[in-house]
Amino acid sequence: MYILGIETSCDETASAVVLDGRVMASNVVASQIDLHAQYGGVFPELASRAHVEQIAPVVQQAISDAAITPDQIDAIAVTQGPGLVGSLLVGVNYAKGLSLASGKPLIGVNHLEGHIYSLWLTQPFKEPEFPVVVLIVSGGHTELLLMTGYNDYTRLGGTLDDAAGEAFDKVGRLLELPFPGGPNIENAAQMGNPSAFNFPRALRGNHYDFSFSGLKTAVMREVTVQPSAAARRQRGAEKKAQLRADVSINDVAASFQEALAEALVEKTVRAARKHNATEIFMAGGVSANGRLRALMKRESSLPVRYPPLNLCTDNAAMIAAAAYYRHADAIREGTLESDFALDVRALWPLGGDGRR
Ligand code: KG4
Ligand code: ZN
Repeated sequence: MYILGIETSCDETASAVVLDGRVMASNVVASQIDLHAQYGGVFPELASRAHVEQIAPVVQQAISDAAITPDQIDAIAVTQGPGLVGSLLVGVNYAKGLSLASGKPLIGVNHLEGHIYSLWLTQPFKEPEFPVVVLIVSGGHTELLLMTGYNDYTRLGGTLDDAAGEAFDKVGRLLELPFPGGPNIENAAQMGNPSAFNFPRALRGNHYDFSFSGLKTAVMREVTVQPSAAARRQRGAEKKAQLRADVSINDVAASFQEALAEALVEKTVRAARKHNATEIFMAGGVSANGRLRALMKRESSLPVRYPPLNLCTDNAAMIAAAAYYRHADAIREGTLESDFALDVRALWPLGGDGRR
């Protein structure tokens, strides 16, 4: 069964064709990184407009790369949420139009569930034995879940303030590194000393919630100097905090990355032990981080899985894969239908309300 996936929840316009939830026939991602780099973060209004421009060529490319004809597509899957409303609407409406015109079923997918199923696209794939503990770490989310079966999640915890990727991006901006902060901090960290600064690991305790805003503030205190009162009064003077000239960006990057990764690893490993998990799964943009991967493997006696680098960040193959597993029964029974009432969901916790 071929599923066409469409993803426009944030700043990537993506489309892919996936065979039977496992095999990527194509995977096209048009990134808007250059567009948003000048603002140091995603500018929602610009993101929606760029999706409108990109969506048709990206979907066409996905179909042509898959070397199939449009009528070979069995269903259309689209990210319904969570994400930026204006961005989600572009993908959802395009998918509705395709479904209406082609008569193929339309499936709304939770973006976070999509990140999890990016692991089903790795080759060779080994069927997991549930339960597994899943850490989703991206620009918008930090969620710790217990996955007890296909599409069956219990939320164990998550961030109380900034998401892990958001913290990387904000600290990247402080350090005057290019956007997005994550990969650039990882590069800088390779040349830095992770014990140069002892940044807070924050929120220790017998729970599975995270907090990264204190860590970000600690980094800010370390690397910037505030303008003096006299400078603030002076007309035309630079009033923003300035990066200190004597601080090693590489050391700060390495120490920050270490503190953040340790906090993620400690809770994930503890949750896995407590819930007798057989494996630890990681997904989302920050799961691309080499130091996080290495620490997780070092601290856990369980196998640790993460997606290949190109499937850590947002893509539509994971959306098509999630749709396949979420609707496996309907697919088998041939009862899959289009839901044209499907609306976007800006907020959509996974596992919070029992199942989805
Ligand atoms: O999953 P994703 O593409 O988008 C969301 O769903 O949010 O994740 C993007 C995030 C960004 O914050 C980016 O800085 C971070 O993932 N990221 C990384 C790395 N690569 C991307 N963070 C740390 N290390 C990396 N190598
Ligand atoms: Zn994502």
